[in-house]
Amino acid sequence: MTGKFITFEGPEGSGKSTQIKRLAEKLDAQSVKVVCTREPGGTATGEAIRNILQHDAVDEPLCDRAELLLFTASRAQLMEGVILPALGRGEWVLCDRFIDSTIAYQGYARGMLIDTLDRINNFAINSRKPDLTLLLDLDIERGFERLEERYADGKGSADRFEREARDFHHRVRDGYHQLAQREPARFRVINSDQPIEDVSCAIWNVVKEVLL
Ligand code: TMP
Repeated sequence: MTGKFITFEGPEGSGKSTQIKRLAEKLDAQSVKVVCTREPGGTATGEAIRNILQHDAVDEPLCDRAELLLFTASRAQLMEGVILPALGRGEWVLCDRFIDSTIAYQGYARGMLIDTLDRINNFAINSRKPDLTLLLDLDIERGFERLEERYADGKGSADRFEREARDFHHRVRDGYHQLAQREPARFRVINSDQPIEDVSCAIWNVVKEVLL
């Protein structure tokens, strides 16, 4: 039997990585084998691409089309090297961001054509879409307050996307809402402006209802 593929999406500071860890623990307690991964990244190639995309590893401004193709190159490598093999072994894959980040960030926020992005995404993933996408929805200002708390101890600093203007991030969030409406069977919207425990309970209820 093939495994299940769940992606986590949301604006900055929406708590995706915390919630992925918690869901993985719950699935583990049910004896489900779980692989957690992230985008961009998750493979050696993907992590090198992540450094270019987020941390200005190369001292040169990236044009929008190069940015898009780097994200999708990382995605193709992750799909081929990690996600499809794990699903084939019957394991569940939890992925921090996936195709919908490209539509929200490069499409709705940067203004690239959604239709073109859909086609490039489909090529990168060989048409294997997630079984379930959890959109952790959060007010943009609230998300940035959380980021400030995260960086308050001087460890880490805002990356290339976190430094974008607030308008950019509002377009990202609106874009996610449109995506959730476009594919209601795949998406579930979770209010992330609640205590961590309540968010993880809401996620667990959805996973049980939809996939278990
Ligand atoms: P994160 O892993 O810390 O969430 O950072 C990833 C950043 O990259 C985040 O700001 C969203 C952005 N991104 C895109 O713009 N397009 C994409 O396709 C993906 C996967 C991420």
